[in-house]
Amino acid sequence: MGTLIKNGTVVSSTYSQKLDVLIEGERIIKVAPSIDPTGHTLVDATNLLVMPGGIDVHTHLDMPFGGTTSADDYTTGTQAAAVGGTTTVIDFALQSQGHTMAEALTTWLAKSNNKACIDFSLHMAVTDLDPNKTGSTAAGLAELEDMVAFGITSFKLFMAYPGVLMIDDGLMFQVMQKAASLNALCCIHAENGSAIDIVVAQTIAAGHTEPHYHALSRSPKAEAEATHRSIALADMAGCSVYIVHLSNEDSLAALKFMQARGAKALAETCTQYLVLSIEEQMPGKSWDEAKFVFTPPLREKWNQDPLWAALADGSLSVVSTDHCPFRMDQKALGKGDFRKIPNGGPGIENRLQILWHFGVNQGRITPEKFVDLASTAPARIFGMANQKGSIKEGLDADILLWDPNVDYTISAATQCMATDYSMFEGWKVKGNAAKVFSRGELVVDNTTQPGKFLGATGRGKFLKREANAGGLT
Ligand code: URP
Ligand code: ZN
Ligand code: ZN
Repeated sequence: MGTLIKNGTVVSSTYSQKLDVLIEGERIIKVAPSIDPTGHTLVDATNLLVMPGGIDVHTHLDMPFGGTTSADDYTTGTQAAAVGGTTTVIDFALQSQGHTMAEALTTWLAKSNNKACIDFSLHMAVTDLDPNKTGSTAAGLAELEDMVAFGITSFKLFMAYPGVLMIDDGLMFQVMQKAASLNALCCIHAENGSAIDIVVAQTIAAGHTEPHYHALSRSPKAEAEATHRSIALADMAGCSVYIVHLSNEDSLAALKFMQARGAKALAETCTQYLVLSIEEQMPGKSWDEAKFVFTPPLREKWNQDPLWAALADGSLSVVSTDHCPFRMDQKALGKGDFRKIPNGGPGIENRLQILWHFGVNQGRITPEKFVDLASTAPARIFGMANQKGSIKEGLDADILLWDPNVDYTISAATQCMATDYSMFEGWKVKGNAAKVFSRGELVVDNTTQPGKFLGATGRGKFLKREANAGGLT
C-alpha cells in the first residue's frame, strides 16, 4: 500500500515524460509509464508537472547578523520554503572568531532541533583556524576533517565583512588546501571587503547615508576582483570552489575566464539578481529601499540578461535565494546610516515562482533546466544526489507537483515568511506549487489549504552529505 501519483508529467533535468510515481514510506519505489493503482492511495496529477522538490542551498535562518537575528527561525523558514515547493535547504553555521567550529555546529543544531520542518543540512562558515590562540592552525584544520566526517562537506569563506566574518587570503588558501585533500567544496562570498570598507567610509563622510548608497558603495568590480582571486587561489590549491550569490556581468566574466582555463569553479546566482535592479527598486528616493539592502547589492538592470544566459548555457549552475530576512523594524537599526541596516532579504518562499515565471514562461530556460537549477544540480554539487534532487527509484520521496497554469499574486499579507514585506509585493506570476511531499508525506496542499504547512513541526532531518568536490572530480 503506497501513494501513487498518476497522470502527471515527470520533469527531470534531462527529459519530460508522462510517468506514474509510486511512493512507499519515505521513498520513491517505482517510476513507470503506467502503474496499477490497486491498493494504493491515488493522487491525480492531471495537468501537473511532477518534479523533485526544490533544494535551496543558501539560506540564513535564525542567524545573528548586524546587531539582530534573521526573522525566520527554522520553523517559519522551512515552512515557507515548503509552501513554495522547496523540500531541502542548506543553511549556514557561522564560526565566531575565537570559537571553534564544533561550538558553531552545536549552536546551529540546537537552533534547528525540533524546529526544522523539511530536511536540511549545513555549510560551515570558517572564520578562525586558531581560535585558542596556540600559534598553530593545526587544530583548526583538523576541525575541517571533523566537519566532513559529520557530513558537513562544504565550507563558506567570506572575503567581505572585515572584522566580523572576513578572512585573509592566507587563511582562505589554507582552508582550500585542506578542503582539496578532503574532497570538500569551498563556497565563497566574493567581494573585496577591504576596498569596499574604504569606499563605504568615504561615502558616509560625504553625507550619503541612505540605503541607495549601500548599493553604490559596493562596486561590481570589487565582486569581480574577489571572484577571480578566490578561483585563482582555489585552482592553486587544487580545490573545487562555488561562488555564492554572483550578481553581475563583471563577476560572470571572471568566472567564465577561470572556467575556460580549467579551474574547478561553479557558481550560483539568486532570484533577486535575476529580476530586481538598482534603477527599479533602489533609485535613491526613500528609506523604503532598505527592503533591498543585501550584499552583494542590486545591480544595474542590464546585468540580468547575461545572468539568465549563463544559467541557460551552464556557466552558472544553481539559483538559490540567500534568504536572510529582516522585518522593517530590524532594518530601522540603520535609519540614518546604511552601514547599520541588517543585510539581507526574504525570498525562500518565492524562488520557484520567480524562476518559473521569468525563466520558463519567458522562454529563457526550459522546464528541464528549471529542475536542474532548482534541485538536481544543487543535490549533485552538494553531495546529496544519493538522497535528493531527482524523481528516481530509491531516492527520498521529496516531490513537487507543479501547476504551470495557475495564477498567483505574491504578497506579504499571504506569505509564510516572517517579514512584514515582500521584495516582490503585488507581482503576478503564472505557475506555483500545487502539492508538496517531503519524504513521502504530503506537507503542503496549496489547492485545498493554500499557504499552510500540514506536517509536524520538527519533522525535518539533518542530512549528512558526501564529500564529492562539487561533483567535479
Ligand atoms: O546580505 C546578505 N547577503 N546577507 C546574508 C549574509 C551573506 O552575505 O550571505
Ligand atoms: Zn554572502
Ligand atoms: Zn548568504
